Amino acid sequence: MSQEKLSGQKLTDEIIAGLLQEQPAISPKFFYDEIGSHLFEAITFLEEYYPTRTEKQIMAQYGEAMALTIGKCDVLLDLGAGNCEKGSALFDTLLPKEYRALDISKEFLEQAISGLQKEFPQIQMQAQTCDLHEEMAFPDLVGRKKTFFYPGSSIGNFDPDAALGLFKNIVKVCQGDGGLLIGVDLVKGHEVLSRAYNDSLGITAAFNKNILLHLNRLVKTDFNLEYWEHYAIFNEQLARIEMYLRSTRSQLVSFPGGERRFDSGAFIHTENSYKYTQEKFESLLMSAGFKAVHSWTDSNCYFLVAYATA
Ligand code: AVJ
Repeated sequence: MSQEKLSGQKLTDEIIAGLLQEQPAISPKFFYDEIGSHLFEAITFLEEYYPTRTEKQIMAQYGEAMALTIGKCDVLLDLGAGNCEKGSALFDTLLPKEYRALDISKEFLEQAISGLQKEFPQIQMQAQTCDLHEEMAFPDLVGRKKTFFYPGSSIGNFDPDAALGLFKNIVKVCQGDGGLLIGVDLVKGHEVLSRAYNDSLGITAAFNKNILLHLNRLVKTDFNLEYWEHYAIFNEQLARIEMYLRSTRSQLVSFPGGERRFDSGAFIHTENSYKYTQEKFESLLMSAGFKAVHSWTDSNCYFLVAYATA
């Protein structure tokens, strides 16, 4: 997921505009520079961070059932494929003829794919850049049955409206064939949720603060990490974890062409991570135009994997 290739005037403008907003914000896509990607991987090993291991367990337990529900798979489209580990774990059950790995940075995908290609020479593989907030189209895949895969509750970073837009786009691209296999974190007691985003080793805090180091390189801001602290809270009304960086003193942050003052206690919003009930998530999928939804969960009902038929 390394985004060292993320650069350019458009991104700089986007970041600076976000910092100058009345409620300053940085998009969570900027978490994933090289260190950020490794910190996120470390998060997935934390005892407090249950989503990754719970999803993996659901996939292992119900993988065969999922494959039966999905049926034939011509093309497996892996959204936010990263190192392609989760997508390639489906090869033995879904038996795709073709694998299309999609993410923001293509360079990183191609590396992952060249390794996989040797292990699975029978599967045709291709890397493609893709921003899931924009309309997707696959003109070269018309008439082939597509299985979209979007694991890890990455959908949690989308507002429900934006999630609906992405689902509608997938329904449209599928043209009445194929569907979407997706993992999503479920609403649960706020202690469990809060612990998952406030781990005792401080890895999530480091992951959150690292976004400022990434910005210092990308747009030449001069954030001093000593004056910022991690803050994460479950907003029960909106069913989402909200992450912020909180200024521990009054300070001035500069960048080429401008500056912004942050008072002590001021927040920069860095991430929303929406949680759903099974009912809400299934009805969101149905309202996007999917014909049916099958879901699998763990014994604690912490996480859900759903297959929506287009
Ligand atoms: C990658 C968006 C699923 O929301 O749990 C983990 C990112 N942020 N800890 C999540 C994250 C803080 C993660 N997603």
